[in-house]
Amino acid sequence: MAKKKINLDKLSWDEFYKIPLPDKLEFFEKDGKMFDCLFSQQYNRKRLENVFNLATKIRHTAKTKEGLDMLQTFLSHKRAMLYFVQPSTRTFVSFQSACYILGLKVSEIRSTSTSSELKGETPEDTIRTFSSYADIIIMRHFEEGMAEKSAWLLNKTKRPIPVINGGSGKDQHPTQALLDLYTLNYSFEKKGGIDGKTIMMVGDLKRGRTIRSLTYLLKNYKNVKIIYVAPDYLKIEQDVRTFLNKNKISFVESDNMQKNLKFADAVYMTRIQDEYDVNNESKNIDYSKFHLKKDLLKLMKKDAIIMHPLPRRAEIEVAVDEDPRAMYWRQERNGMWIRTALIATLFGIEDKILK
Ligand code: NCD
Repeated sequence: MAKKKINLDKLSWDEFYKIPLPDKLEFFEKDGKMFDCLFSQQYNRKRLENVFNLATKIRHTAKTKEGLDMLQTFLSHKRAMLYFVQPSTRTFVSFQSACYILGLKVSEIRSTSTSSELKGETPEDTIRTFSSYADIIIMRHFEEGMAEKSAWLLNKTKRPIPVINGGSGKDQHPTQALLDLYTLNYSFEKKGGIDGKTIMMVGDLKRGRTIRSLTYLLKNYKNVKIIYVAPDYLKIEQDVRTFLNKNKISFVESDNMQKNLKFADAVYMTRIQDEYDVNNESKNIDYSKFHLKKDLLKLMKKDAIIMHPLPRRAEIEVAVDEDPRAMYWRQERNGMWIRTALIATLFGIEDKILK
């Protein structure tokens, strides 16, 4: 029996938020294309391949002055609002740079302490205000669901503008996952691509939003195996296990990094997300077993890669940077290209660039 279609327009925010993602993704699409970029689940293999190709094309085009000058004309009539009210270095600067590459004019707010939110304005009214001045909002927020709520709110107005989620609390960070996958794809280009590879994720898997978003994206590849390595308290959450089982993605969980290193084609390190501690609980964990020190590199495959969304603390010893398998600085640069490609896609100028 056909499922009864929900009238998404009529729902209150609380009702809308509770709806399972697959049933409401269409609210963030327009004419069969992505309108907002909020969740990894919006991507299928085709969309991923398109954005990767575009990023590579942009990366090559921007190498020359002529190429970059041309790219900068494409969106010179558009304005972007960067609303980043949670700390950020890479995501902020790479999005800002991505806007510059395409000629967008950029405004920014980096703290609720310098916006009218300090005077008691709600985040909802703040977002609505941005839409009076900007053509796209790129945001990072400490509250889970805030990016979705912003897009939901604007899509109900007469002047909807796209929202990109640059990190929403502990929940998701889809553009980080895009750049992670782009890096994996690039690294395994001559080795059959991402299909069939073993990815090991290490660290704070409970609160790391990059872990959740990357896991969701990996569903688009065949026979991928994931090894999750974390101290007991920081293991993946049950919703991630349910997702993996439902999508028949093979995974194991362990607290032994050393024992598992030899199996991995990619080792994805993460830091403890102690900004989400309520009572300093993660301060008492002995995290040293989850640090990639130089003397452990010999346990890894010769052609494996080491990744990290950054910022790092002690998870990766600085001496590891010199190893040819260290990919995190390139991964960081890839962020700018993939974000440029994403913005280009949302404004529908892919064909212009590919030509
Ligand atoms: C990550 C984030 O903000 O979730 N950083 C990033 O965007 N590159 C990872 C982290 O902060 O640990």
